[in-house]
Amino acid sequence: ALPLVIDTDTGSDDAVALLLAAAGGLGDVRAVTTAAGNVPLATGTRNALISLETAGRADIPVYPGCARPLVRSLSSAQHVHGEDGMGDIGLPEPARAPEPPHAVDVLLGLPRDHPGELTLVTLAPLTNIAAALTRDPLLFTRYRHVYCMAGAADTRGNVSPTAEFNVWADPEAARIVTRAATPDKVTWIGWDVSRKDAVMTPEDQRRLERLGTPMATFAHRVNRTVADWARDVTGLAGYDLPDPVAMAVALRPELITEREQAYVDIAVGDETRGQMIIDRRRTAPAPNLTLVRRVDEVGFKGLLFDALARRIPA
Ligand code: BDR
Ligand code: CA
Repeated sequence: ALPLVIDTDTGSDDAVALLLAAAGGLGDVRAVTTAAGNVPLATGTRNALISLETAGRADIPVYPGCARPLVRSLSSAQHVHGEDGMGDIGLPEPARAPEPPHAVDVLLGLPRDHPGELTLVTLAPLTNIAAALTRDPLLFTRYRHVYCMAGAADTRGNVSPTAEFNVWADPEAARIVTRAATPDKVTWIGWDVSRKDAVMTPEDQRRLERLGTPMATFAHRVNRTVADWARDVTGLAGYDLPDPVAMAVALRPELITEREQAYVDIAVGDETRGQMIIDRRRTAPAPNLTLVRRVDEVGFKGLLFDALARRIPA
């Protein structure tokens, strides 16, 4: 299994990604770090702990990190994921607490102990990662690969006309990340991918409900408010799963059907906050990111449903 470190602002789609990584059989999750984003830090940390318990992996440590973006205040997405980030279904509190040290120390320390072995998957605003980069500018070279659920490579946003939430929430951090990235080490899977190839259609939702396993039922229930929001606001045929599809790509890069390498910078000005500026000119600087543009939808959903169908040993 692939050794993983996961940075998350656990809301409902992060939760599904955690189940896929921790209980799907393809990942070996060594640590989960948390950042503020969808919900405040303490709430996201709680949700990460609950998700790992649901996956039967209460042994995986959870390390809280930055409680707010680098220079801005937190604008959470509780109108999308629920006040508790998990569909407000009254989940019980987790049985254990998060651990020290600070997430940034973990992100720096683990690859030092296991150079080139670990894959980092980020599902949150990039605050923890940027903070780690300021202390170790070569951080990305120490990981096997870094996959980020970040941005919208078609510049159609979900939080502004042009920006995706994780980048919009902390654009200064995202800019630090793109400026430190190289395309052989850092791959972004944007919201455009989930909108095209990772939509839970009403039929998929019924299929998930019918599976009836504890993980499938959990995944279905925590996405209740997202499903409402998608129906009423986005006009998609269902709700999309940005974090699970990013996780699936990290676990199985063969799922990628279309990608490009490009030089990307991040806008931090008011009107364009968080927009990806993708330089596709012939004279562009050398690419710094690999951008996933499409994935195999059937393969992704197969992977996800197989993972959620599992029954974890008591
Ligand atoms: C991203 O923002 C959050 O709403 C999701 O958890 C995902 O990480 C999508 O834009
Ligand atoms: Ca997330």
